Amino acid sequence: MAYLQGSFPIIQKQQFNSDTYSFYIRCPEMAAQTVPGQFVNLKIPGFSLRRPISVCQRDDEVLRLVFQIRGEGTKELAALEPGMKADLLGPLGNGFPQLPPKAKVILAGGGIGVPPLLALAQVYGRNATALLGFRNKESLILEGEFAAECDTRVATDDGSFGYHGFVTGLLERRLSEGPADMIFACGPLAMLKGIADIAEKNQIPCKVSVEERMACGIGACLVCACRTVRDGKEIYSHVCTDGPVFDSREVVL
Ligand SMILES: Cc1cc2nc3c(=O)[nH]c(=O)nc-3n(C[C@H](O)[C@H](O)[C@H](O)COP(=O)(O)OP(=O)(O)OC[C@H]3O[C@@H](n4cnc5c(N)ncnc54)[C@H](O)[C@@H]3O)c2cc1C
Ligand code: FES
Repeated sequence: MAYLQGSFPIIQKQQFNSDTYSFYIRCPEMAAQTVPGQFVNLKIPGFSLRRPISVCQRDDEVLRLVFQIRGEGTKELAALEPGMKADLLGPLGNGFPQLPPKAKVILAGGGIGVPPLLALAQVYGRNATALLGFRNKESLILEGEFAAECDTRVATDDGSFGYHGFVTGLLERRLSEGPADMIFACGPLAMLKGIADIAEKNQIPCKVSVEERMACGIGACLVCACRTVRDGKEIYSHVCTDGPVFDSREVVL
C-alpha cells in the first residue's frame, strides 16, 4: 500500500519513566492504513535523517507511538509537546501476519520492543499470552495495558518484579503449559535469537520484528540491509521494505 507523508498534531503525551514517552498523533488517513508491526519514519526538527518508530496502537484517527531516548534525535523528539506537529512518513514496512482471532499466540517482547505487541494483544485478546521482559521494575512499561487485554507475565533481569530472568525463561514455562499457533517477538537481538531457537525446538512458527539503522525507510538507500535466507541461499534484504517483520527461519539473527 502507498505510504503518506505529512505534519500531524500531537494530541496527547505521556511520560512513563526518565527516558520513555508515548505520543498520540491524529493522522486519520495514515492510521486507517496501518497494521500492527508497521512503523513510521519521523522527521525531527534539526535532523536531516528521519528516525523509525513502530506503531504501538492505532484506531481510525490516531496513531500511538512509544519511544525511548537513545541519542540526540529521540531526545529532541521527547521535547515536542501536545499542540505541536510531528512530520510522519508512513505506514512503512510489512507488519505481523494476521491469524484467525481464535489462534493461540504468544507475544514475546523485551524493553522498547514491547510496545508494537500491544496492538496484537488487542487483536487476540484472551487467546494471547504476553511475555514481557525489562531490565528492572523502574523500566516496566505498558504492563497494565497488556494485562487488560490478555494473559500477561513479566520478567525482570534483576528480579525486582515478576519472574527473575529473561523472556526466554518465561517462554519455556508457557510452552510447558501447552502449545501455541504462533510466536510474535520484538526486542533486542539476543532475545530474538533465544526466542527463535525455542520456537524451532518446539516446532512453533515464529515471526520476529528486527531493528536496523535506517535512513529513507522506503527501500531507496540500502542502509538497512540484513542477511536473510531464501531457497537455501543467503541474500541481503531491506529491513524497511522486506521487514521489519520476518519469519525467524528466514532472517539471520
Ligand atoms: C523498524 C524500527 C522500529 C523502531 N521502533 C522503535 C520504537 O517503537 N520505539 C523506540 O524507542 N525505538 C524504536 N526504534 C529505534 C529508534 O529508531 C532509534 O532508537 C532512534 O532512531 C535513535 O535515534 P537517536 O537520534 O536518538 O539516536 P542516535 O544518535 O541515532 O543513536 C543512539 C544509539 O542508538 C543506536 N541506534 C540508532 N538507531 C538504531 C536502530 N534502528 N536500531 C538499533 N539501534 C539503533 C545507535 O547505534 C546508538 O548507539 C525502531 C527502529 C526501527 C528500525
Ligand atoms: S532505510 Fe533506506 S533502504 Fe531501508
